[in-house]
This record gives sequence, C-alpha cells and structure tokens, in this order.
Amino acid sequence: MRLNHSSIKLLSAAVVLAILLAGCGGAASTPAVPTSTPIPTYRFDTPTVPPPVATAAATMTTADQSALDPALVATGKGRYEALACGECHGPNGEGTDKGSAMSASKQTEDEFISFMRSGGTVGVSHQYSTNRLSENGGRALYQYLLSLRK
Ligand code: HEC
Repeated sequence: MRLNHSSIKLLSAAVVLAILLAGCGGAASTPAVPTSTPIPTYRFDTPTVPPPVATAAATMTTADQSALDPALVATGKGRYEALACGECHGPNGEGTDKGSAMSASKQTEDEFISFMRSGGTVGVSHQYSTNRLSENGGRALYQYLLSLRK
C-alpha cells in the first residue's frame, strides 16, 4: 500500500493524539506519595558456647566389660587374628617389643577407626583400608580391644 499525503497526515494526527492521551492519563492519576523505606539494623549477639556433650564412646577409655557384646568381641578377635595384629601387639594384645599392649590404648572408637584408616603417627604400614577392615569389622575389632582394657 502506498501512503499519500493525506493518509500520512491522518496517521501522524492519530499518533499525536495517542501521545497526548497517554500523557493526560499519567497526569490525571494521583501523584505517588513518597514512602519511607525502613533501613534494617542488625545486632550481633555473641553465640553462647554449648556445654560439652559426653558421648558414649568418649567415656569408654576403660571398658565396662558387661556392656560388651560377646558376639562382636569374637568377631573382632577374628579380625585381630586375620590381620596379624598380634605379630606386633601380642597374640592376645599383651604387647611385644614391636608394639604396645592394647590395654594401654585410651582411644575412643572414632579415634581408633581414624587411626586405622590413616595410619596415624605410625604411617602407611599401619593403614588398613576398607578392603581389609570393613566398617563393621573395625567396630568389632574395637570391641575386642575394649575387652582387653580390664
Ligand atoms: C608391624 C607391626 C604392627 C602391626 C602388624 C600392627 N600394629 Fe598397631 N601399632 C604398631 C606400632 C609400632 C604402634 C605405635 C606405637 C605403639 O603404640 O606401640 C601401633 C599402634 C597401635 C595402636 C595405638 C595405640 C594408642 O593408643 O596409641 C592401636 C590401637 C593399634 N596399633 C592397633 C593395631 C591393630 C588393631 C592391628 C591389626 C589390625 C595392628 N595394630 C597391627 C605396630 C603394629
């Protein structure tokens, strides 16, 4: 479609009218009342130190022998023998010149497990990965060691 002179005039008139109407609409509405924006204020409260929680494992440095599960202790003794711990710590954990007596250890279960996984201060020769000592095997072995803490 070709635009002739008069249709352009008509078109621009419509555009001007639209702009005016839009302008009027804006002006007619009530001016916005500025509202105050609350600025949040913060307070720092020093956290209170929680009281130390005694865990069952942490208190078992000397074992309550009656609390031990004989089946777990037997499983643990099996792991002790299979992994030849006795070569250094004695066949019954009594200790040799190559390793201390097991009754001397004060390790909690968590400390024992992480020591066996990491090798601790002894190093890689004392590292027992999960393919040799499973999660349950490690717990049972700890129960056996507890049974030696008389
Ligand atoms: C090659 C010798 C050797 C073997 C095998 C061995 N250990 Fe040890 N173990 C050591 C030495 C050395 C130490 C560090 C000094 C010490 O406590 O006698 C040690 C430390 C430990 C300790 C830390 C004691 C403590 O509270 O500080 C535990 C627990 C332990 N061994 C358990 C085991 C168990 C369980 C096995 C078998 C899975 C095992 N060891 C096998 C030599 C050995």
